[in-house]
Amino acid sequence: MPAPVRALDTLPSWPALREHAAALAPQTLAGLFAADPGRADALRFEADGLLLDLSRQRLTPETLTRLVALAREAGLEERIAAMFAGEHLNVSEDRAVLHVALRAARGTRIVTAGEDVVPGVHAVLDRMAAFAERVRSGAWTGATGKPIRAVVNIGIGGSHLGPEMAAIALAAETPDDLELRFLSNVDGSDAWRAMRGLDPAQTLVIVASKTFTTLETMTNARTVRDWITGALGPDAVAKHMVAVSTSEERVRAFGIDPENMFGFWDWVGGRYSMDSAIGLSTMIAIGPPAFGELLAGFRAVDEHLRSAPLEENLPVLMGLVSVWNRNLLGLPTVAVLPYAQELARFPAYLQQLEMESNGKHVMADGTPVRWATSPVLWGEPGTNGQHSFHQLLHQGTEVVPAELIAFTQPRHDLGDHHDLLLANLLGQAEALAFGRSADELRALGSPEEQIAHRVCPGDRPSSVLLVDGPITPHALGRLVALYEHRVLTEGVLWGIDSFDQWGVELGKVLATAVAAELTAPEPPELAHDPATNALIARLRAARGRA
Ligand code: F6P
Repeated sequence: MPAPVRALDTLPSWPALREHAAALAPQTLAGLFAADPGRADALRFEADGLLLDLSRQRLTPETLTRLVALAREAGLEERIAAMFAGEHLNVSEDRAVLHVALRAARGTRIVTAGEDVVPGVHAVLDRMAAFAERVRSGAWTGATGKPIRAVVNIGIGGSHLGPEMAAIALAAETPDDLELRFLSNVDGSDAWRAMRGLDPAQTLVIVASKTFTTLETMTNARTVRDWITGALGPDAVAKHMVAVSTSEERVRAFGIDPENMFGFWDWVGGRYSMDSAIGLSTMIAIGPPAFGELLAGFRAVDEHLRSAPLEENLPVLMGLVSVWNRNLLGLPTVAVLPYAQELARFPAYLQQLEMESNGKHVMADGTPVRWATSPVLWGEPGTNGQHSFHQLLHQGTEVVPAELIAFTQPRHDLGDHHDLLLANLLGQAEALAFGRSADELRALGSPEEQIAHRVCPGDRPSSVLLVDGPITPHALGRLVALYEHRVLTEGVLWGIDSFDQWGVELGKVLATAVAAELTAPEPPELAHDPATNALIARLRAARGRA
């Protein structure tokens, strides 16, 4: 059993931290830089080819010292050790939280419930690798003897967002003659789009679902199975559909031979699973050696988390800054702005990781929290966002902390694109922090009637995260692990269970009931609230079932 969680507002350092925040509040970022010539260096941290610049956050080195003390009082070091030790950090589901075992090196021991889980992880990785090689080489053929040219991953949430994000991020590693598609939404138009133009005889479908019960995934899997069997006959399932799941029984019941199933375990949360068998599409796309590099990237940050002192621990510092912005400065959202088109789906991936993990209203022991938990996370790649919502970031009435991410090198050799990209990132960070005052605008000759409109107040906090080199599988692994462990750090400080997701259940239950009522041949007795009842009646009429 992990040690009981400690309430944030009862930790010994908390009252002084609040006073410290109040004392800092009147200071501007320009003032903080002027007061401390060493600030830029003191608040820049580097490890494993990752650079984290916190100097434009509204804090000082003393703030970090105080936050680290708070983290120690919250038991962060013990929690990190408890995670690696296979303790049941997911208390509400009584499960270990062992995504770190998914990338543990062969021969490492990670034990939970008396069993070393690492040999099982590598057994699955080996099976995945053998299968991926057969698909990539053309040795695995479809029902008509043709090689596979398209892979469709059917899954949702954690069984979709990571694989899709990685497919876009690592597209340069994917052979030109292999197409990857992702089908997640129960909206039939998504299934139509996913199948459109594909030849079933050359398509491999991966049904990815931890539970193999998820409505969207199973509905899509049945539709796509019909598409395959309609074209190629019932026996084609064996050559065109494989499964990734923790439930062999349900995979078999669906009609996929367990020989064509790749397993994982209940100690892997969906949103922490892109490096498990859920990453099968990634492995087919980039090949087993590159997938190994991805895992090595995750592992490098796992080792950093475990061994670096909290004061220099990148994911811990990122988590502490989240707590500072959320709980001490009262900032409700955070924008993730990758200056890397390859990371187009990274904000969406992080939305599930952050908000499904830490969007909680009770502590792990079930008592209500008295402080804010997860911020609303959102974002888009720069520079596109600059021509869209950055106006609000610079001059809106909400202060939105921003996280600007970039790779120091491009994957291409196309002219000056990358320097322009990096210049824009730096320009945004500078503009957010220091803004532009009325006096500066006057000195630049702005017409007086425009001055008020042109002023940018500044003092908008941001972090810059630079990854050395171009995007690679290793770099992506490090980046994702960094955020996974940031979420852990925040969750420990907030005293919550970051590994359950009960909040998503209610909507699922209600949708199941409504589905029966929408489709019943006879008008059903409706016992919802008046608004829902009225819309069910209206939609039944629209669907010709009045
Ligand atoms: O609805 C939430 C959720 O349970 C996520 O946590 C999970 O990633 C997703 O649904 C998909 O679940 P499964 O992999 O079991 O289909």
